[in-house]
Amino acid sequence: MTSLYVADDVVTLAKQILGSDTTGHDFYHVARVARNAVRLYREDFPLASPSTLQLIATMGYLHDVVDEKVTATPTTRWHQIMALPTVCRFTPEDQEILRTTITHMSYAANLEHHFELPVPGQYVQDADRLDALGAIGIARAFAYGGAHHHPIYDPTIPVVMSSNRETYRHHKETSINHFYEKLLHLEATMNTTAGKKLAHTRTAYMRAFLDEFMHEWNE
Ligand code: ADP
Ligand code: NI
Repeated sequence: MTSLYVADDVVTLAKQILGSDTTGHDFYHVARVARNAVRLYREDFPLASPSTLQLIATMGYLHDVVDEKVTATPTTRWHQIMALPTVCRFTPEDQEILRTTITHMSYAANLEHHFELPVPGQYVQDADRLDALGAIGIARAFAYGGAHHHPIYDPTIPVVMSSNRETYRHHKETSINHFYEKLLHLEATMNTTAGKKLAHTRTAYMRAFLDEFMHEWNE
């Protein structure tokens, strides 16, 4: 599973911070994001340089290390990232791409203002969003919902479309509602052509799951 393009120090930090996570932001999530981001990038740029692929894989592994949902001390985590030998060897331009991408790529960070990410970052963001879709996306939504004590579904709790971070994080919700509030809309936010295509297939799978869920609920 480990990407060919990532160095051991990066993998070790990701494992140390995310290894025991049970909210859907675990080590295998970031490993999938790194691998898929590299794969999507190579589809669009077959002659990509190894240094760009390394930057993309590194951002994939590190993108959730500073996330507010995973750590209470993001500043310390940033120091750890910038002190990694691999990151220290990046050019200043690549370090800036890493900083901007990781800071601005999350869904919540884009609710009130849309950030245009640097191109390598767009592939990491697409791979992260793809991991919230399809069979794995369904599993992650219920893992997250369980970890946050949300019910699986409750027909008396309405779907709420949030346009700001506070409502997004703190309104009353169910895991099923999350599909209607966010997951079914991710397809429209993909940056890249390859990402859009995969998102379409995975969204169709989730719609079929929701149809079956509602069918059984009302049976
Ligand atoms: P991002 O990937 O941009 O950081 P999140 O951290 O909000 O966005 O989402 C990461 C994962 O957690 C996704 O798989 C998403 O479906 C899941 N998730 C986030 N919020 C909820 C929620 N309220 N209910 C169920 N799943 C959630
Ligand atoms: Ni992520």
